[in-house]
Amino acid sequence: MLGIIGGSGLTQLAILDVSHREVVRTPYGEPSGPLTFGRIGCKDVVFVARHGHGHTIPPHLVNYRANIHALESSGVTQIISVASVGGIRKDLGPGSLVAPHQIVDYTWGREMTFQSGGDGPVVHIDFTEPYDETVRKLLLDVSQKVGEEVADGAVYATTQGPRLETAAEIDRLQRDGADIVGMTGMPEAGLARELNVPYAALCVVSNWAAGRGDSSHGIKFDTLEAALHLAMARVRRVIEGVCEA
Ligand code: HPA
Repeated sequence: MLGIIGGSGLTQLAILDVSHREVVRTPYGEPSGPLTFGRIGCKDVVFVARHGHGHTIPPHLVNYRANIHALESSGVTQIISVASVGGIRKDLGPGSLVAPHQIVDYTWGREMTFQSGGDGPVVHIDFTEPYDETVRKLLLDVSQKVGEEVADGAVYATTQGPRLETAAEIDRLQRDGADIVGMTGMPEAGLARELNVPYAALCVVSNWAAGRGDSSHGIKFDTLEAALHLAMARVRRVIEGVCEA
């Protein structure tokens, strides 16, 4: 079964032929909302809205552990995470879709591991390649097939939020090698790896990052919403393609 985590702009998945919704409790608390089960084409899918159905949970308060645990315990064998990001790299302007290949984590104070200590040996997971290459390639192959351009590879800087960054912070992220910036990439990807669930992200660039492009003097939220809305139609086509693959 395919798990889809929807971010900003994707709180519902209209292409999902819903069979039922389930309120799942986990040892880590409740996920962001009920899990929605159904089918896209002939593929079983379960969907969860990362920020809650009404988009009320900010990035630093998302219960990432509960979301990943709930998906895994529901039998999910692959996760596609959809997330909106700011573009730093020159070719990744608003409206671009990108499947990142690397992460730099700047978040803090989040519950970022299932290892709570004391009840077993310490385990250090390998995270050299934070995204599952099979799922990432599937996204790229399918996007080609359905005619939607998805950039292959980017370094995703995960910031704490919920505020956006300063221009100097984006300069620093760029010096660190970041191509895109978002607030939810971690600990989500690390938790999926801890539970051994193959996970990849399909990122939607909703705006130029602070100090870049038309965000050189501030980020305009009205154009951000519009870019997100348009790009989500393309995301849906890629997801439909994945479900037919
Ligand atoms: N910064 C951080 N997170 C984001 C951005 C941004 O510019 N755009 C969308 N999510």
